[in-house]
Amino acid sequence: MKADLLRKKFLEFFAGKKHKIVVSDSLVPAGDPTVLFTSAGMNQFKKQFLGQITDFRRAASSQKCLRTDDLDKVGQTPFHHTFFEMLGNFSFGDYFKKEAIAWAWEFLTEWLKIPQDKLWVSVYKEDDEAYQIWLKDIKIGKDKIVKLGDKENFWPSEAKQKGPNGPCGPCSEIFYDYGKDIGCGKKDCDPACSCGRFAEIWNLVFTQFNRKEGGSLEPLPNRNIDTGMGLERLAAVMQGVKSNFETDLFEPIVKEIVKEAGRSPNLKIVYVVADHIRAMSFAILDGVLPSNDNRGYVVRKLIRRGVNNCRQIGIKKAFL
Ligand code: ALA
Repeated sequence: MKADLLRKKFLEFFAGKKHKIVVSDSLVPAGDPTVLFTSAGMNQFKKQFLGQITDFRRAASSQKCLRTDDLDKVGQTPFHHTFFEMLGNFSFGDYFKKEAIAWAWEFLTEWLKIPQDKLWVSVYKEDDEAYQIWLKDIKIGKDKIVKLGDKENFWPSEAKQKGPNGPCGPCSEIFYDYGKDIGCGKKDCDPACSCGRFAEIWNLVFTQFNRKEGGSLEPLPNRNIDTGMGLERLAAVMQGVKSNFETDLFEPIVKEIVKEAGRSPNLKIVYVVADHIRAMSFAILDGVLPSNDNRGYVVRKLIRRGVNNCRQIGIKKAFL
């Protein structure tokens, strides 16, 4: 299934569950000095999460995102990018864990027909409510639910200890199992292992706290849902390929790069170039030009890395 159709189906599914479909925000968040770039679907809904805007209580979007935290992993793993699209559904004081989990499961297993036995989940170690929903309502086997800690299953990661201030909460992730032949081969390999066997495809965040200066977690006036599913990762699963870079989202770009490169280019380097081309294009489209500081510096860095990587695979002409 092509990525365009996946995006469409996702929005259609949540429109059917009475969500307002909201267009992607710019990569440059308006009036939010806490982030350089839009890095998640929830960014444009912070006021709704804080109960400051209340005109709709359910939303879904496909949000363009840019993150530089994983820059060094790009090209090294099948799943990491600087620019990607995040499919998300949101509840602002409306539905909570039960519906969010049931709908995620329904979309993946009934709409997309992903075999249930290929899916594993994780929950926050102290979140027995989410654990019981997966076990009793969804009926996933105990052996396929892993309990993880503040780094993996709290969002933002380790927000309790490190911040940032603002809406946060425990989360539950859904993983696709690429099978025992991929990765470390260990008998006890599970989604906590980063060997590549398990691809995290969907993160369901139960946004119920507001972190305040000093690290205190205050319950929000309303309990919220914030989910994020990487379109590129879902496309890889649905297209039966093991890397996002082999999906239809990347294939034409990769093909052009390979055509220009010398013989048998290092694919890891090709993938870095493909990733950076998308990131710089969308950043420039949203008005960020290369410069020496802030956002412009990120774009400049992406261009510089892109050019250097092109040279390494034998592309000397102006190509990017
Ligand atoms: N905001 C959550 C994330 O980025 C869904 O993973």
